[in-house]
Amino acid sequence: SLSRFTAVTPLRATVAAWRGAGDRVVLVPTMGALHAGHLTLMARAKALGERVVASIFVNPTQFGPTEDFSQYPRDTEADLRLLAEAGVDAAYLPEVSEMYPAHFSTRIEVGGVTEGLCGAYRPGHFSGVATVVTKLLNQVQPDLALFGEKDFQQLLVIRRAVRDLDLPVEIQGVPTLREADGLALSSRNRYLDAEARARAPRLHAVLSDIAAGLADGAEAGPLLKQGRAELAAAGFDPVQYLEVRDAETLAPMERATRPARVLAAAYLGRTRLIDNVPVG
Ligand code: PAJ
Repeated sequence: SLSRFTAVTPLRATVAAWRGAGDRVVLVPTMGALHAGHLTLMARAKALGERVVASIFVNPTQFGPTEDFSQYPRDTEADLRLLAEAGVDAAYLPEVSEMYPAHFSTRIEVGGVTEGLCGAYRPGHFSGVATVVTKLLNQVQPDLALFGEKDFQQLLVIRRAVRDLDLPVEIQGVPTLREADGLALSSRNRYLDAEARARAPRLHAVLSDIAAGLADGAEAGPLLKQGRAELAAAGFDPVQYLEVRDAETLAPMERATRPARVLAAAYLGRTRLIDNVPVG
């Protein structure tokens, strides 16, 4: 059954007891408003360990001043029911004042993989993510933590921070769960009206076409130009970025000579959608 924690000390004691008994503990960090995409992470966590901890924390430091922190969907009771049904052992719901007490003054700044893509459009975002995830890993002290490939740059930022700071935890990525029409599940999809929802799957379709072209050996430039035109025709405005990057380093690529990823961020009305697909 699902235990509920808001303070670090009792949660740590519980995790320490589990690990002492030889159980592998898996952490799945979330901001709540849970959907089937989050639940695939919970299912993977159940398969990979004996104990699963899910955190729900809408992290203020990763939202920009004009972003949707105060509007971000929150439904804790529904989330807790979903976590219980998923067989999660512990829900960790820290208060903002517990995570960031008065005089909190430290931030984790990751270089390299934070450059470009979302890093260019959301100043401070990945610093907020790296800071809160580092804190969550230190608070919970799991053996393994899972992150979705849906937020591909985020996954690489966290891998980099964990390596650079010698955090004793394994990080694994989980493939993106999609609707039948290709739209990646996201807490922000609920902002889409019927017309925008009907157009939204074009994002994945365009990314997939570009990935197929690259896999056939084509050059990125013309594929990206055509992809931008298709997104504009489908009503995406603005298209913030549409790029091909090295899947490990996020370095720009002209041809998929190494494992590559096609990534995009674009607005449909007021809703910002991001998505990415592997090449090949
Ligand atoms: P959140 O957006 O709630 O996402 C929590 C986790 O679920 C992330 O690892 C995300 O990549 C994954 N996820 C979201 N949609 C998914 C989908 N369709 N398929 C598979 N996985 C999906 O990402 C965050 O929260 C925050 O930045 C966080 C890491 C918790 C730090 O605050």
